[in-house]
Amino acid sequence: MRIDIITVSPELIQSPFEYSIMKRAQEKGLVEVHFHNLRDFAVNDYGKIDDMQFGGGAGMVLMIEPIDACISKLKAERDYDEIIYMTPDAPTLNQRTANTLSMKENMIILCGHYKGVDQRVRDMFITKEISIGDYVLSGGELGAAVLCDTILRLIPGVLGDETSALTDSFQDDLLSPPVYTRPADYKGHKVPEVLTSGNFPKIEEWRTDKALEITERVRPDLLED
Ligand code: ADE
Repeated sequence: MRIDIITVSPELIQSPFEYSIMKRAQEKGLVEVHFHNLRDFAVNDYGKIDDMQFGGGAGMVLMIEPIDACISKLKAERDYDEIIYMTPDAPTLNQRTANTLSMKENMIILCGHYKGVDQRVRDMFITKEISIGDYVLSGGELGAAVLCDTILRLIPGVLGDETSALTDSFQDDLLSPPVYTRPADYKGHKVPEVLTSGNFPKIEEWRTDKALEITERVRPDLLED
């Protein structure tokens, strides 16, 4: 997989890719991530990439020319399965979307900033819009990092068996059951007996019951789906 991230703040998004699972995915050669600074495609020598909105109103809007120049350059080099725009006014990211995107080959992710991008960018280039939640971030960078983390951990070979994404919360529309490790008794707070029983069918049954119980209590909407 190859991911090209277009941003006005590369330094804001690079570091999550230098640690943990996202780093491992790249080291294993399973994903290539490239960052593109929109300012390198500015419309003038002063690095202009945004302007006031037509019709008046507070906030600057990212211009279409630099974005077109960057996306067109990338598209001339390879085909892309998706060109994604990170924005709060879009469908919310969920595990299903992450699963689907983890099977793609090449993707561009455009991070919004300020008031967003000229609508014509969305009309002309974007194939998918994603929000990471019902709140407004200062830019799409943190959202793009979240999106990439959810996708990369699903690529076969990125996680070892011991951390398989198949047992993650949401993978079967259920939240995860509680987990415990040693000591079995901490200041009188004991680990549920079934987990130390060695009876694996019973343990599985307990985990399923707990997952259902927690999902019903915390996120009943997941069960409605
Ligand atoms: N940019 C600003 N807010 C955002 C959000 N909630 N999700 C994705 N991108 C954003």
